[in-house]
Amino acid sequence: MDATIVHDNLKHYPVLLKEIISVITPQHGGTFIDCTFGQGGYSKEILKYKNTKVISLDRDIESKIKANQIKEKFPDRFIFKNLRFSKLNNLKLKNENIKGIVFDLGYSFVQIKDLNKGLSFDSKGKLNMMMGQNEFSANDVVNKLEDKEIEKILRHFGDENDAKLISRNIINFRKSKKINTPDLINIIEKSKRKKNFKIHSATKIFQALRIFVNKEISELLNGLIFASKILKKDGVLAVVTFHSLEDKIVKYFFKSLSENESISRYLPQLNQRETLFKILEKKPRTPSLKELRENIPSRSAKLRYMIKKDNSYNFETDIFNEFRNLIEIENLGNKL
Ligand SMILES: C[S@@+](CC[C@H](N)C(=O)[O-])C[C@H]1O[C@@H](n2cnc3c(N)ncnc32)[C@H](O)[C@@H]1O
Repeated sequence: MDATIVHDNLKHYPVLLKEIISVITPQHGGTFIDCTFGQGGYSKEILKYKNTKVISLDRDIESKIKANQIKEKFPDRFIFKNLRFSKLNNLKLKNENIKGIVFDLGYSFVQIKDLNKGLSFDSKGKLNMMMGQNEFSANDVVNKLEDKEIEKILRHFGDENDAKLISRNIINFRKSKKINTPDLINIIEKSKRKKNFKIHSATKIFQALRIFVNKEISELLNGLIFASKILKKDGVLAVVTFHSLEDKIVKYFFKSLSENESISRYLPQLNQRETLFKILEKKPRTPSLKELRENIPSRSAKLRYMIKKDNSYNFETDIFNEFRNLIEIENLGNKL
């Protein structure tokens, strides 16, 4: 979700909800894993179908309040775990018929409104951006990492053209004072060479810091891998992304598990690798005009899904190698 377009009168709005339900088809029953419970928008909708069970995860302990309300209503069909989805493999899933696993990436409106989390440009005071179960905050990143390290994070996680200038100005500013959220926004505004009147000048920097602080790259890679293993035959893996980096990772991963890799186009079909998933729609689903009108922040959402062809648990993936430059940048956090 884009932190620039938060209005006080907005309520929580589960993005692409109808589309999610239409691809995971809970009307046929089965167990579903909601990896990003948030305010429970998806979980609640799935539980409306009688023969379903939902296991939900969220790294933010505060989402437990909403989860407890759902638990009261569906004591036998709903489980909540305060867990990061990179730990999906820690779930004890004996004989569960996992028919759908959904990810709605990013953060919820409730988290943005919580100014202590520091995800919104209106936040005052210390930099934060931790969604839960973190090792360091944006305050550590901006006030402790070196010039070149900050530049890499801003460039690669935020696609920020002025990364060099901004990181240099961060280093200069912090010689006199620890940088807090309003300071960071000032530094960015003064450093930007070109003004973009459509989006807040700090949008890309906030995105970059949030991805870094929450280790969103390795979270996503591990989450996708474990989800692909856990799903049963005919089960659906559905992912809603909000920015191009996430979508690039999901698209690559889906393609690599669903496309036959022909060694040579001159060799017979026999030499093609059997794939574990199939993709029915190449293009991602995006919000309808109605949804866009009702919930502006949904404008960058994209839903991709793929369907598992058998119960196999084993497959190989080169995804960590493909995105190793991003993992290397993420690892800069190990020194904090
Ligand atoms: C966009 S919201 C989900 C909203 C939800 N679909 C709904 O309808 O209420 C994303 C949620 O995912 C959680 N989250 C983000 N990264 C996570 C991770 N790696 N593991 C578990 N939860 C995560 C956030 O804390 C946030 O609550």
